[in-house]
Amino acid sequence: AALTYSSYSLADPLVIAHRGASGYLPEHTLEAKAMAYAMKPDYIEQDVVMTKDDQLVVLHDHYLDRVTDVAERYPDRARADGRYYAIDFTLAEIQGLRLTEGFNIDQDGNKVAGYPDRFPLWKSSFTVPTLAEEIELIQGLNKTLGYNIGIYPEIKAPWFHRHEGKDISKALLKVLKEYGYDSKDDKAFVQCFDPIELKRINDELMPAMKMDLNLVQLMAYTDWNETMVYQGKDATPYNYDWMFEKGGMAKVAQYADGIGPWKPMLVDDKSTKDNLIILPLMKEAKSAGLVVHPYTFRADEGRIAPYADNFDDMLDVFYHKVKVDG
Ligand code: G3P
Ligand code: CA
Repeated sequence: AALTYSSYSLADPLVIAHRGASGYLPEHTLEAKAMAYAMKPDYIEQDVVMTKDDQLVVLHDHYLDRVTDVAERYPDRARADGRYYAIDFTLAEIQGLRLTEGFNIDQDGNKVAGYPDRFPLWKSSFTVPTLAEEIELIQGLNKTLGYNIGIYPEIKAPWFHRHEGKDISKALLKVLKEYGYDSKDDKAFVQCFDPIELKRINDELMPAMKMDLNLVQLMAYTDWNETMVYQGKDATPYNYDWMFEKGGMAKVAQYADGIGPWKPMLVDDKSTKDNLIILPLMKEAKSAGLVVHPYTFRADEGRIAPYADNFDDMLDVFYHKVKVDG
């Protein structure tokens, strides 16, 4: 059924800076996080992966080759699939890499910036930050300026870390506890795409560590898993189909406080500002008591063309906007 815009309008949307001010500076750099902070979001997001020596770094991919010069610096350290995995490098090695805008390799082997009109490739000395460094930046600014800007870490590729013998979730909880995030009252959400891992965090890890953080179940479509391979084999155990079925959201609510769906999962393509067609998932989530933090709002996003012109209005609908996002 079609619902009107005003039915879901909220005056004070939540703002989460996705990968920092990634619309302006290379994603997940401390520079992008400081700029995001200056825009006063409610939360700043961190994607988290592990190093060979069990440190947590803030990086979107569990490999280093999309945003750093790892291939030039360590040409012999790629795995068979040609990727350079963070888990094969120590923190010191990773911190010695140069980071730049995300790039693609063209057919002549040249690196081409993903955002060619934005920040020039390799012109600055950006680096990969640790999670601790980023939290210290945010908490330091909170103290200096008197705000309470939160953190929104995402556990990346737990399946991969598991196969490599690492417990990334446990390592993350340890760091969060060390920095004072241990209850639902603390300004932090932990998000993950893997329902099995989130359930484990909620049912086992957090009780054992006397922690009770807010958890968000990120949602994708099951067939997106095709891209997740491990040493040439499909190793991805996630299945999201059950979340879209009736009662699925109530099941999620048993271990999580909210969902992070891809935004088109909530609103029909034919929706306009005045006539939003809210898909059943949103209603199910709300009645299960889950907060809904969809990803990702971008001013320049062409994929969701019907929303692009009035995206500021749309953001109110979902009480979650990412105006600082790229
Ligand atoms: O918060 C959701 C969003 O961050 C998930 O997508 O790929 O940007 O980490 P991604
Ligand atoms: Ca993320």
